[in-house]
Amino acid sequence: MAPKIRPLIAGNWKMNGLKSAGLREARNLAKSMGKVGKAGCEVLLCPPATLLAPMREALKGSRIAIGGQDCHGKAGGAHTGDLSAPMLKDIGCAYVIVGHSERRADHGESSREIRAKAEAVHRAGLRAIICIGETAAERKRGQTLAVVGKQLAASLPKGCTAKNTVVAYEPVWAIGTGLTPTADDVAEVHGAIRARLRRRFRDEGAAMRLLYGGSVKGSNAAELMAVANVNGALVGGASLTAADFWPIVATCI
Ligand code: PGA
Repeated sequence: MAPKIRPLIAGNWKMNGLKSAGLREARNLAKSMGKVGKAGCEVLLCPPATLLAPMREALKGSRIAIGGQDCHGKAGGAHTGDLSAPMLKDIGCAYVIVGHSERRADHGESSREIRAKAEAVHRAGLRAIICIGETAAERKRGQTLAVVGKQLAASLPKGCTAKNTVVAYEPVWAIGTGLTPTADDVAEVHGAIRARLRRRFRDEGAAMRLLYGGSVKGSNAAELMAVANVNGALVGGASLTAADFWPIVATCI
């Protein structure tokens, strides 16, 4: 029998958010969360690094966790502009996103580097959200499962457990475009990822959270969250305001 998995709804603010408006949105989200009793899912905000410390303060006493959007594969050293996983832990992060397709595309990050980053996240005692997903051209050529399988094998390090790792399937063509795969397409990919995770990590792979990401919004969240092997969402644009993010969170709270 498939284990019961507590969903995770994660907001990725990317390079968006200034102090006063950003923290107001985070507080509004916390207010909505505060009105419901026990949360059925975990909620996470990954703001830009500049907002991590003030957001942690703003969210004190709420059940919303904060996370980083990326980290270096090393714990410290001469790497100008980078942040390490222990630094993110130090500031109160619980999660770190690694391997987002924008990092893979804009910074040429390979699955090998992403694997090193995920290892760094694990070493720091944090949870890694490891992103994978095919491009439009790859989907058109019928290579979706092959591409995703390859990224999965190369980006996940050995010590992955259901506790320290979350996998996010984000078709590149669905990110920020308003396009989403059909529920059947999501079911097919998530089913294939689950099978691979089970094969490699056994019970841990069966219990690992698998998020869908790419143009998730209030109007399609319930349908996407109902798909087999979808255990939450990684949300970009629709996580920037509480008004847009709350209806998504509410689908599983
Ligand atoms: P989107 O981004 O929700 O704006 O499509 C998702 C993501 O990149 O994580």
